Amino acid sequence: MTAVGIDAVEIWTGNLKLDLPGTFAPQKGEDPEKYTKGLGLNASSFPDSYEDIVTMGANAAHRLMERKGLAPDDIGRIDVATESAFDNSKPVSTYVAGCLEQVFDGDFHHANKGERKFACIAGTQSLDDACNWIRAGRNRGRGALVIATDTALYARGDAGEATQGAGAVAMYISEDPDLVELSTGQGYGSADETDFLKPNQQFPSVDGKRSVQVYLARMREALEDYESVAGDVHPDDVAFVPFHTPFPGMVRKAAMLAYRHVIRDTSIEDELAEEIGRQPRPEAFDSDEAYRDAMREYMDALKETAAYQEWYDATIDPTLSISREVGNWYTGSVHIARVSALKRALEDGREMTDEMLLVGSYGSGAQAEIHAETVQDGWEAEIEALNVEEQLEDRYDMSWEDYEEIHDAHNHDMDVDVEEFTTPESEFVFDGWGRMGERKYRYVE
Ligand code: CAA
Repeated sequence: MTAVGIDAVEIWTGNLKLDLPGTFAPQKGEDPEKYTKGLGLNASSFPDSYEDIVTMGANAAHRLMERKGLAPDDIGRIDVATESAFDNSKPVSTYVAGCLEQVFDGDFHHANKGERKFACIAGTQSLDDACNWIRAGRNRGRGALVIATDTALYARGDAGEATQGAGAVAMYISEDPDLVELSTGQGYGSADETDFLKPNQQFPSVDGKRSVQVYLARMREALEDYESVAGDVHPDDVAFVPFHTPFPGMVRKAAMLAYRHVIRDTSIEDELAEEIGRQPRPEAFDSDEAYRDAMREYMDALKETAAYQEWYDATIDPTLSISREVGNWYTGSVHIARVSALKRALEDGREMTDEMLLVGSYGSGAQAEIHAETVQDGWEAEIEALNVEEQLEDRYDMSWEDYEEIHDAHNHDMDVDVEEFTTPESEFVFDGWGRMGERKYRYVE
């Protein structure tokens, strides 16, 4: 079977930055370490006044098409995944295509366009749709453009305000990809949950503590389901595990549960038994409560072992470096985790071809999905071509007053005009409203 997967990726961060320990924490009267150590975040990205999900998505796609020498004719499908859409009918992909047609010769008149919604997991679902479309032989030799773009803003004062972010990831999906091949084996954990939702409102209603528990429960089900089709996962077989990362502290919790699961009944559990005992099994306990207490004690001990810490430092920590600086990008978040990991591998001079990534996506509402990816031999050139550091470095560092203004400027219920903080250059910008309430965009040289 021909390999199908991600040929290339580009990211585009919102042009503004909010320093969480330096600017946000003092205003909230909180210890800066709640953000850096507890949530694991240093900063969040924000959109400047001329940026939105269309400009960020189109800018990421533009970079990707230019770098890969792609023309509109090479693209037979454009799917945008977002949970920040501003129109219940016209998909964001049509706006993105309109932007790209301003700068490329040709058009996307024969490309199938759509928009995917299932909270943060929609980016992975779009990726999956694109792979299936190619595997089904319906692509006529063309590839698919998948864009995950979000402005993850919370209401002022909401606990989620610390985990905001804004940015886009564009991916080109093709046969014989340069970056990663996707497995066809997948596992799902899905249930009707009320943890995080936006019932026709801009800012989410969130039950934060519950959302953490729902994430963990669905992810565990997805892992079990994945193993039922692909066989047991062994820690030694997996180079990195990029998880959906609303904030790195969430991934710390997910990683701990995943490690406990994958070492069960392996020689790693046996070796650790001398130090911390074997994992409690439910059948050995009279009540659920006693079992849960024993498991909590085991997990506390497991967390402190050198085996776990080495595995975490090698397999999980490298996936978090971009997220720490940009916050939650919702649909794009798991895709920047993959990039972070491969960037670290490149920096370490590590050979990654044929190595396996186990990718854990999650969307509130709620669904988790797990699949494997095999790194392809063009990965180094792909990752080397990214300018992530430069983009992060170039962001304008907002004062508290700037932050308050820009949050209001992006609040759909407020009519606030804010001067832009940065000067757009070689990028698409929001250019006002059309006669039917549509958004207009132009390219700034
Ligand atoms: N030093 C070190 N650590 C500190 C600290 C300090 N001074 N102060 C607090 N902490 C730690 C806390 O112990 C806690 O860690 P643990 O959970 O490991 O105990 C962590 O920092 C956060 O502190 P709180 O729990 O007190 O933080 P909070 O109540 O203000 O908010 C939250 C946390 C509920 C997750 C909130 O950020 C939120 O609602 N976020 C939005 C929802 C979200 O992201 N949920 C994640 C799962 S859902 C999902 O993934 C979909 C999605 O993208 C939204």
